[in-house]
Amino acid sequence: MSARPLTAEEEGRLVAAATAVRAHAAAPYSKFKVGAALLAEDGRVFTGCNVESASYGLTVCAERNAVFKAISEGAKGFRAVAVVTDAEPPASPCGACRQVLWDQCRDIDVVIATPRGVATRTRLATLLPLAFEF
Ligand code: THU
Repeated sequence: MSARPLTAEEEGRLVAAATAVRAHAAAPYSKFKVGAALLAEDGRVFTGCNVESASYGLTVCAERNAVFKAISEGAKGFRAVAVVTDAEPPASPCGACRQVLWDQCRDIDVVIATPRGVATRTRLATLLPLAFEF
């Protein structure tokens, strides 16, 4: 659990990073572009976009790409994730991503936003109550 909630300035930077990486989304099938940015305790920001496959089930969501990049680079504690889509109200992480975020980040701040400045902040434990842990 993060002891330090995000400042408004940190939230703005994280949403900006998620908005920027969303431009790289490979979503030719759904046309639904998603960008995610994960803030590590050490200050690093790891971004990810959704990458779809012609074999649809192999698609990987933006949030999981950001988590896997962060873990691969040796990041350990996390404070927050921002997810940007074009949906209004802003789209929330899917169930699979909630679990993977919980696995690696536990109860972090979650900011769901649009590129037009709409943003809602919640906590991962609110999105995934009674999370599975092994
Ligand atoms: N998607 C994400 O990237 N994150 C989510 O939390 C939900 C869905 C992607 C997967 C697929 O490429 C597209 O959005 C439509 O489902």
